[in-house]
Amino acid sequence: MAPLLGPVLGIESSCDETAAAVLDRDGRILAEAVFTQVAEHTRFGGVVPEIAARAHLQRLGGLVSQVMGEAGVTPRDLGGVAATAGPGLIGGLVVGASYGKGLALGAGLPFLGVNHLEAHALTARLPGLFEAPPAYPYLLLLVSGGHCQCVAVEGLGRYRRLGTTLDDAVGEAFDKTAKLLGLPWPGGAHLERLAGTGDARALRLPRPLLGRAGCDFSFSGLKTAVAHAVAKGEARREDIAASFQASVAAVLADRARHAHAMLPGATALVLAGGVAANQTLRSALADATPLPLLAPPLRLCTDNAVMVAWAGLERLRAGQTDPMGLAPRPRWPLGELSPPP
Ligand code: KG4
Ligand code: ZN
Repeated sequence: MAPLLGPVLGIESSCDETAAAVLDRDGRILAEAVFTQVAEHTRFGGVVPEIAARAHLQRLGGLVSQVMGEAGVTPRDLGGVAATAGPGLIGGLVVGASYGKGLALGAGLPFLGVNHLEAHALTARLPGLFEAPPAYPYLLLLVSGGHCQCVAVEGLGRYRRLGTTLDDAVGEAFDKTAKLLGLPWPGGAHLERLAGTGDARALRLPRPLLGRAGCDFSFSGLKTAVAHAVAKGEARREDIAASFQASVAAVLADRARHAHAMLPGATALVLAGGVAANQTLRSALADATPLPLLAPPLRLCTDNAVMVAWAGLERLRAGQTDPMGLAPRPRWPLGELSPPP
């Protein structure tokens, strides 16, 4: 294990959250800040890449100064700088990765271009988060607006995607369904609230891929069924919301069972992504397998810079760094990470 010379600064800018955080060399959080751009994108009903890139550019410098100040460190005190280098929206990735490289170069520090999915995958190992960090291998279910995949986390740099969505991400399905029900964007939390007042048995919606081998997901058929139900006025809005949520819960539970069968030695099922906030889905997943369900606090499930700093720290400890010539990658599957030497 390589000795770490100081705290690590993490930068996240791959989608619509601008974030910075400083962890000490043991991984304890010294400072963290997130600027959520929802207000910038709401009137467009989704993330506009150019607006996101500009907002990252405007906010990142201030956030980095803020967390460095709160942590009581200057760039020279750091042991490394980690910035998300993909996958994500290229404009934001260029802003965050360039900023991180500039800072590292100026202070003579190692730089790490972190894979955003790897950062989600390793979050559960943050010291102090759970009684004990999950031992390898464990299952990661990443469910957000942009991602929907199940991953076998077998070690640092060793990830195997067991399944992914064939169409929409699950958060996207929530957002589109919420829109059909007249709820504001992003609609996941609004839909959950509405579903709480409805009857999930009032309407039978499809459960795509349920029982199918493997661990892929599909949500577009479900969304289309909701569109028909809304158009025909087949049920009350709250009943449609509840039925939709029940279908998603049944599908996710089924997929988790299949994932466990694909990785029988798994020690835990770890959740990540904004959809992990949903209580109905959480309890369905908790009951789906005998594995402990580990859900980090919501602020660490959604996009944040603590997870980027932590992934950077783990990689630095393993003796890894990245060259300054590393180019951000809008598409960067986990399977294309090079394992540690
Ligand atoms: O991880 P995240 O913050 O970032 C992106 O994917 O950009 O996830 C946001 C997604 C949105 O689709 C949002 O509607 C969904 O998570 N979400 C929820 C809930 N809270 C947020 N979906 C279902 N139930 C919720 N309570
Ligand atoms: Zn994410």
